[in-house]
Amino acid sequence: MSIWTLNEKKRPINKLNADLDVDTLIIGGGITGLTCAYFLKDLGNVCLVDADIIGHGVTMNSTAKINYFQQCIYTNIADNDYDKAVIYLKSQKEAISLIKNIIEKENISCDFENVPSYVFASSKDEVVFLENEVKFLRDNHCEVIKKEPPINCNCYEGYCVNDTYIFNPIKYLNGLFNILKNKISIYENSRIFEVEKTNDKYICIGDGFKITCKRLVLGCHYPFFLLPLLIPMRSSIEKSYMVVSRVNNDRKFTCINTNNPVYSCRFYNDGKNIYQISLSRSRNLAFSKDDEYQFSRVCEIFNIKDEDIILKYSNTDIMTFDHMPYIGEIDNNMYIGLGYNTWGMTNGVLAGKIVSDLIKKGESEYTEIFNPKRINFSSMLKFPLYVFNNMKSYVGSKINKNKEWYSNNVRFKNIDGDNVGVYIDEEGNEHIVYNKCPHLGCSLIFNEVEKTWDCPCHSSRFDIDGKRIKGPSVLDITYNKKR
Ligand code: FES
Repeated sequence: MSIWTLNEKKRPINKLNADLDVDTLIIGGGITGLTCAYFLKDLGNVCLVDADIIGHGVTMNSTAKINYFQQCIYTNIADNDYDKAVIYLKSQKEAISLIKNIIEKENISCDFENVPSYVFASSKDEVVFLENEVKFLRDNHCEVIKKEPPINCNCYEGYCVNDTYIFNPIKYLNGLFNILKNKISIYENSRIFEVEKTNDKYICIGDGFKITCKRLVLGCHYPFFLLPLLIPMRSSIEKSYMVVSRVNNDRKFTCINTNNPVYSCRFYNDGKNIYQISLSRSRNLAFSKDDEYQFSRVCEIFNIKDEDIILKYSNTDIMTFDHMPYIGEIDNNMYIGLGYNTWGMTNGVLAGKIVSDLIKKGESEYTEIFNPKRINFSSMLKFPLYVFNNMKSYVGSKINKNKEWYSNNVRFKNIDGDNVGVYIDEEGNEHIVYNKCPHLGCSLIFNEVEKTWDCPCHSSRFDIDGKRIKGPSVLDITYNKKR
């Protein structure tokens, strides 16, 4: 459950139960997959499948800011290559125009609203970084105003831009779904486990079906196979903790600070109630077990009272070595969009558009800069760091069963040679799962706030009975005594 699904109306789900042969298959019905489908809708013989329900993956847990003032991202990119930072800025502004145009053209009702976006320094040391970022933006024709965010958030210095937006991403995706449902085939609750490559086709094997396709688009946040891109060795993961609280004033802005720990907030008016969506972000999943602490830190910073809290939930983002997404062709006729470095709305739309351009025209002006196979000096420097981080997460996952981290309701046992995790619910019922992530074998951490088993390595999630909530794992961890 997220703020965006709180009042979502249920609709019939079309599950795939037969084999298909299509030209283009899109896996993943989040913002990347649906945008790509939107731009390919007239191509003919396009199919989109989602393991869950449209938008109910990472998009659902986003704060849904459509914003190009992204902390200090341009100075970080410009440190290695100024021109790339300029192109990245252009791409983000184009993505904002794309979303705006689709919403206007298709008349999608999704609470799309123009609001100023603030970036602020929450310590004295950050001020100089922020000022560099502002200089970059001003040098590249952006109007940036010196102004502190109108909220109590430990601000030393703040700036804002006015040409940025917010929306309800689930309403937006459901709007796209309604446009697309009669033009392409869309299947939900249809999970794909495996992709096989033949001479000129891909065979995607799912739960009770098989889809053969000429072109394959992966818009599924984190690829469920290791090759050909070795994503775990080319990215890291950050976890965000969201607290949604009820407030009285409808405040029209978003804000975020420049450095770690990251804090941000925005507001949402659903016509009946006004909500503040506040967030904090943490770096290493294996060693940031203390979910309770992370959520309480958000409340402390934004002065949120317990009685006003409606929801608490977390999300994960894939971070890349050069702060730019991986978008493009990774194998013959296989395309990917991921690594949005927490800016999923603009980069998700951009990925959908770039991939559709590559499929339709064979080219995009962003092919080179976002090339998912790119290797340069800074990537080579960071490669050992990612290997180390993966090892650290793996080892951390094996030793993180510290009893003091958990309440008495969480236990770890060995039953007949199987390592299992046990959660005892409020009625005293035991829920047992295998405590080994089917993706690459890390041990799982129990998230006592959201009552989920979370993988600290690449962020797969499972419910208390082991049902997969989110990949890259494609399998459940349901405990089967007779196995
Ligand atoms: Fe990769 Fe668990 S080991 S998600």
